[in-house]
Formats: sequence, C-alpha cells, structure tokens
Amino acid sequence: MTAAAPEPKTNMGQPVPRYDAAAKVTGRATYASDMPLDNPAHAFLVTSAIARGRIDNFDLDDAKRVRGVIDIVTHENAPKLKESKLFSNGGYAGTTIQPLKSADIAHDGQIIAVVIAESYEAAREAANRVKVRYTATTPSATFDSPGTTTAAAKGQNAQFKEDPGVGDFAKAFGAAEVKLTAAYDTPTQHHNPMELFSTSCVWMGDNLVIYEGSQFVYGLKNGVAEQLGIDADKVRVVNPYVGGGFGSRGSMTPRTAIIAGIAKRLNRPIKLVPTRDQGFTITTYRAETRHEIKLGANRDGKLLALRHEGAEVSSRADAYCVGGTKTTARLYACPNVASLVSIVRADRNTPGFMRSPPEVPYLFALESAMDELAVKLNMDPIELRRINDTTVEPIGGKPYTSRSLMACFDEAAKAFGWAQRSPQPKSMSDGDWLIGYGCAATCYPTQMAPSAARVRLQRDGRTRVEIAGHEIGTGAYTVIAQTAAERLGVPLEKVAVFMGDSDLPPAPVAGGSNSTASTCSAVMMVCDQIRQRLFKAVMPDSLTDKAKETVGISQAPATQAAKSDRPLDIEKAFDALGVGVVEEYGEWKPEGAPLDSFRAMHSGQVRLVGGHTMKDQIAYAFGAEFVEVRINRFTHEIRCPRLVGAFAGGRIMNPRTARSQLMGGLIWGMSSALLEATEIDERNARYVNDNLADYLVPVNADVPAVEVILLSEQDDHINPAGVKGLGELANVGTNAAICNAIHHATGQRIRKLPVRLENIEV
Ligand code: MOS
Repeated sequence: MTAAAPEPKTNMGQPVPRYDAAAKVTGRATYASDMPLDNPAHAFLVTSAIARGRIDNFDLDDAKRVRGVIDIVTHENAPKLKESKLFSNGGYAGTTIQPLKSADIAHDGQIIAVVIAESYEAAREAANRVKVRYTATTPSATFDSPGTTTAAAKGQNAQFKEDPGVGDFAKAFGAAEVKLTAAYDTPTQHHNPMELFSTSCVWMGDNLVIYEGSQFVYGLKNGVAEQLGIDADKVRVVNPYVGGGFGSRGSMTPRTAIIAGIAKRLNRPIKLVPTRDQGFTITTYRAETRHEIKLGANRDGKLLALRHEGAEVSSRADAYCVGGTKTTARLYACPNVASLVSIVRADRNTPGFMRSPPEVPYLFALESAMDELAVKLNMDPIELRRINDTTVEPIGGKPYTSRSLMACFDEAAKAFGWAQRSPQPKSMSDGDWLIGYGCAATCYPTQMAPSAARVRLQRDGRTRVEIAGHEIGTGAYTVIAQTAAERLGVPLEKVAVFMGDSDLPPAPVAGGSNSTASTCSAVMMVCDQIRQRLFKAVMPDSLTDKAKETVGISQAPATQAAKSDRPLDIEKAFDALGVGVVEEYGEWKPEGAPLDSFRAMHSGQVRLVGGHTMKDQIAYAFGAEFVEVRINRFTHEIRCPRLVGAFAGGRIMNPRTARSQLMGGLIWGMSSALLEATEIDERNARYVNDNLADYLVPVNADVPAVEVILLSEQDDHINPAGVKGLGELANVGTNAAICNAIHHATGQRIRKLPVRLENIEV
C-alpha cells in the first residue's frame, strides 16, 4: 500500500487503480471535441460587449468576406427554439436567458451571433470582423450597485422553500453571556474545467447526436428535444469522458440547441469549441455572497442562539440561489435558530452549481464565526465543536443517520499535531515567517436519486454494465466495475462498464455528490436480480433443508440467496439454465423518493432524496480540516505548507479514488480562500480576469503537502451501497480553516475572501 492507495479499513473496498487511467494518460480517452465528424463545419461564437441594452444592427459585410464563411446566424435569422424552464424550477436549463431570440442583451458575454465556416480559423477570423451597434443602458453589476433589486429567496426559488428556524432567537441572543456578530463575504468564482464547453451536433435524418461534456446526459437530451420541439427519443447525447464538471455541466446551457438547430438547417455536422473566456459567460458560476452571523453562547461555550443571514447575487431573469442555511442552521446543537436568505438581482448571467454550492460560502461564514467565538471564550476551537456536537439536528429534531464529526476532528488533530499549537495569536514563528494553525468542520448532504442499470453476465464471467452515468474525473467507471465484480463474484478485469451515453439506462445528474450512491445501488440491485435467476436455477435442490435453515432461506430461497454474500457457481448455474447470457435491467429508487420518480428519471429530471429532506432522519457526511499557514512578516506573502483532512463518508468504495477526490477538494478549498476570484468591472458589469492566466488557480508549489485520512464508518440507513458521497465534501470549510489559521498567525481576522498579501496588515 502507498499514500496513493491507502490500506482499506473496515467497510472499504480495494484501492484498485482507475479503470480508465491508461486511456486517460495516453490520450486514448475521447472527449466531446475529439469525436471524429464527417465533413464538419466549424462554429465560433460572437458575444456581447455590453451587459444591458439592445442590438441596433449588425454590419456583417467584412465578416462575410472571409474565405470559407458559410453563414452568420444572429437573432434576425436564428432557428426558432422553445424556451426551457430553469433546472431548479423543474426544467433543464441553467439559465432562462435565451440568446438569439431578440435584440435584447441581458448580460455581458451573451451569445449574439454564431459564425459558421469551413475551418475553425475562418470562423474565428470572421467573428472578429462582426461589427455590432448597440444601444447600451447602465448595468447593475453586483451588491450595492444602483438598480439592483433584493427580495427574500423564499417564494421565488422552487428549491428554497423555507428559511429554517426554531425557538426564539432574539430573546436567547439578548440574554446570552457571550455574543458575536460578524459579517463575511465570498467572491464570484468560476469553475474552469480543463475541457472547454464544446458541442458537436450531427443529424442523421430526424435523429440528432450531440457530443458534449455533460454531467447529465438524460437532462441534456430531454432539454434539447424540448427546445427543438422534437421527440426526446430522437436525441442522443454521447460523452464517455468528461473533462471536469464541478457543476458547470449539470444543467443545459443555451449553446446546445442553437448549434443543433443550425446543424439541422445547414444539413451538416457542426463543431463548436468556445474559448476559455467565453466559458465565463456562456455557462454558470458561483455568485458572490454576503453573510451576517450572530452567535450567542454561555461561558461554557454552549450555543444558545444562532442567526445566519445570507445574500446572493443572481441574474435579472432567474432567482437562482444556493441557500446554505439549510446546512448551517442544522450543523450544531442550538435551541434558538433564525435565518434568512435573500437574492439580489443584477445584470449578470445566471449563476449555478459550483462544487458544494451551498456549503462552500455558507460554512465559510459559520466556521469562521465558530473560531471567533472560541477566541472570545478563550477555548480550543475543537472543544467548542465538541460541546455543540449533536446527533439530532435542531430544526426538525431529526437524528443524523450517522455523524462522525468529532471522530474526524480527533483523527485529523492527531495527524496534524494540533497539540503542539500554542493558542495565543502571533505566538508561533520561524525566522521571518509567522506560523498559524487553523481548523474547521466540513459536511455535505448525503443524496441519492433514482437510477437504472443493465447488467449482462456470460458463462465465463465476462460482465457488461450499462448505465448512463458520467465519468467527470472522479473514478465512476472504477467504482461501478468494483460493485459489479463484488456482487457477481467475478474478477474485476472481466467487467466492462459503459457510461456517458443517453441511449443507456438512465442515471441521475452527476451532481450533489450522489453518483456513487445512486449508480452503485442500482448496479447492486440488478446484479442481485441476476444472482436470483442463477440461484433459482441451482436451488433449492442443491441445498439440504438443513443448509437452507442455516442460511435462512427457507421462505424465498433464490431472493434471499441473491441478497446474501453466498458464493455462486456461475458455470453450474448457466448449465442448469441452458443459456449463454443472462441479462437483467432494473430501476432502483431510494427510500422516500416520490411516486413520479421513475417517470421523471426517464424524462431527464432528478428527484434527489437525502440531506435534510428525508422524512425521519437527516443524512450528512462529515470531516475536519486542519491547515498550517505561514505569513512573511515583511512581504506578507501567504503560504500554505500543509493541509490535513479526515473524512467519514459511509462506505468507501475505493480508498484510492476517494483519497484523490478528497485531496482535490482540499486543494480547491485552499484555492477558494487564497487565490480564486472573478473580478468584476462594476461600470460595465463585466468579468475582467476571464482567463487562466489572471484567474488564479493553485499549482503544485502552492500545496506542498496534503494528507487525507479516511475514517471507517458504516451507515445502514442511507442506501444499499452504504455510500454517503465524497465529491463535494472536502472543499467545504477549508476557506474558514485558512482564515482561522491566518488569525492565529497574525491576530488579524479576515472575513472577506480571497485573502491576498495586500489584505494582511501585520
Ligand atoms: Mo456538483 S456542483 O453538484 O456538480
């Protein structure tokens, strides 16, 4: 075993290497824009240079003179498309701002024209020659900009139904011995997956094939069909590999149906590869947020009152919000809780999911405030969490299905060497460097959604698993193969997994960290259907009555045996059945899923179950993160030499892919604290640093040591796979841990991200 392949503990699978590792590192893995097309035309987008107003006219003469230009599509001649509702309102779209519909401009960087040419270069050249005359109106860029409107999220966003609260916050806060009021800010951030937001569309008669990196092939297929007004069965989305998701590919963006419509009209395959800077405005992003936290506690550190008010920016058109109070109101024992989330509408593109959408900004606020409270109480911040740890969430009084928060703190503290910390701020240094230690909690809801799967087993053990899941870099092929191999008792190398194709049985969006729990539960169920057929063939005759009693299978022998871990003699069963192949299809849904779940699943809508929305319980994964920061007392340079995280996520399917996923999360968490911010030119409501040179992301030298500790945890209440999901857990809380460490190093409390050297005042 190595650091990359940790020794499995109880309730963990084997740390097998990624099924697709060789394909990826040798370039054999094909991403959307790698798909070979027959005589494609190339598209290049023209995007708006103003954020609000209208297009008066285009001058296309110069552009049309570029050799190889086939067509230039604007709102005056664009294919007519139907509108789609926002994803969070039961539709498919990440934005309801539909470009090329009219002359209106709703945000900077909106698609206003598409140039089609024989080559990428010709299309790009012509796009640069498109002249646009606008009538511009002054846009509202962000918080405090004149012209924004603010209203409670509740009532305007279908997914944000309530501002959680319990008890009497005002009274309890008034009476509390120790009080804290603090405000926190998080910046605009953009997910920049390596793979650009490419789309290729190919029609064969009335049938459309879309090659596009997507976290939800069923959603995209149904959404594009809806926009084109055609039968969803005529649309197929293919993406065996996706070059990073992070939420950016969870919902449909307007580009896809536009390209499909143009391809149909021109009767030719069209390939679009947008530029990196276009990716900042033609998809979604993490909007800036503001928070006010009030904590009231007694001298012993017991929380008596908690209030979390959050505000988030969204577009004029859409009431998107992440509403992280659903988590922060429930994380600690506290009898009096109040909360309020507001949405501020500005002239911006609609924000959307970005890794751990609610928890990253909202836990930054809460976990910073907890540290501030610990300082006020002169108490160790871990002890403050221990005093307020709970097995029951305070809002609805529902028990956590399992909760290993303090076990994570203890393990991570030990590995980090927290005991060596001298608690006084500014008390640790090394030459010119002030040293700070900080920590914070992380948590993420355990979510599941209905999923189907098809499994085919041959007599020689060769197995084919088909499921329209998504490999977005997480190791999905690997854990699904492990699940089938384990359940059927066949060697892993005999299992082939097929994903990323909407012609396969439906799986949910690869979002909300639900994929492993949902797809593996479905695959397990279908493998059990196969086992049942095979056991039926060889039972009951193969067992004595006595043996049946011992394994408890006298009632429904084949079913019971299928669900048990009894080994199966596949060859014998095949011979008894007299067949060459056994194939089963099945549809799994989590307990508590609504009645329309399967219908929704086939039409590309997701019925997520879990987190705080379960009926009698609440399910979350937990972790604790520790960081060391070093701040140069002269230059104020900030370094983060060590990140240590301990995590408990139920069953760990594969410690290697789990560690890798959590390590990436920790690094991103550090990045969200120290590096990442999309700067907005407030006069023009325009993103300034819309490229990977100016939008800072970490490199290896920024993260010298990352340690991931996987805790053994078993939770039988969540799903058959026992999986809580790790995709988003690790980048939550890291930003608070960093600011807490900066306070320890310098005595300066920083409440606004990102922290740069110019913000340090020691
Ligand atoms: Mo994730 S932001 O739920 O794709």
